[in-house]
Amino acid sequence: MEVLEWATSPWGQTVPIHIAWSLIWVAVIAGMLFLIVHAIYIRYFAKEKEFAGKASPELGAGLPARIPRHSLAARLFHWIMAAAMFTLLFTAFLPKVGIQFNWVTYHWIAGVVLTISIIFHIIHASFFMDFWSIWPDQADLEDAGKRVQRFLGRSAAPPRKFAKYPLENKLYHGVIILCGMSVILTGVFMMPRVRTIFFPRSPYLFSDMTWGLMYVLHGLAGVGLIALVMVHVYFAVRPEKRAITESMIFGSMSRDFYLKEHDPERWVVETSASPTRGRRA
Ligand code: HEM
Repeated sequence: MEVLEWATSPWGQTVPIHIAWSLIWVAVIAGMLFLIVHAIYIRYFAKEKEFAGKASPELGAGLPARIPRHSLAARLFHWIMAAAMFTLLFTAFLPKVGIQFNWVTYHWIAGVVLTISIIFHIIHASFFMDFWSIWPDQADLEDAGKRVQRFLGRSAAPPRKFAKYPLENKLYHGVIILCGMSVILTGVFMMPRVRTIFFPRSPYLFSDMTWGLMYVLHGLAGVGLIALVMVHVYFAVRPEKRAITESMIFGSMSRDFYLKEHDPERWVVETSASPTRGRRA
């Protein structure tokens, strides 16, 4: 199976022009396989989650019934970014699988929305949210080791409860950054190739080889996002993740869910009685 499509430039050089579109199906099938294997594992094999330390009613004392998780600004960003992402995926790939329409205009407009929303998110996360909450820390790595040992049936102490985000979410966020920044940076350079409101068309900025590689990276990261978005939506609709998904709509989660899965020392929730008011997502 070919991974790239090639062409001959006017100077006789063989250059890549974009990815082979069959990779779309590779991504869809990989995404489906992940969902099926994971769903079977959870249904038939996974044991009840076990964490170190006992849940005690005192832990919940003083906490509100609803634990704030995502601010309005963070939720608006998430849903605007999601709308742009779906528009980009559908406008990019439907024409490649036989559904023809004038996709380029919708695509670059959604691309601009995604780019602006991500710039907003970087500023918001860096200066107004708890920036480090989404990056793996020492405790995550120690607990990952314990979780792998227990998964393999070896004896190991139970892991601690999660901070605001479990390690899986942090790793997913990291991969999304790689794919997202790849489509955004290449997409911005590809804008002069098409008719937009920003600048006159200028297809001669780079050599044919550089343009080809840019389209290849844009396409590879794009098909990667097909599988990543499938996995994300799958987890969002799983029943045991409902509290997390609802918090992305309503902004908060129940105190019971928070105490069941999260460690109040690793994800400190501010209450009206808190001595200092820090930053919150
Ligand atoms: C989920 C994110 C994205 C996906 C899946 C995606 C996918 C694609 C694909 C498959 C193509 C066709 C490339 C080819 O023919 O080889 C394309 C073209 C293009 N994309 Fe994206 N893209 C995404 C994000 C963006 C962003 C963020 C921008 C702008 C900032 C952008 C701007 C463009 C432009 C200008 C083209 C060129 C159209 C042409 O030359 O005819 N894309 N995109």
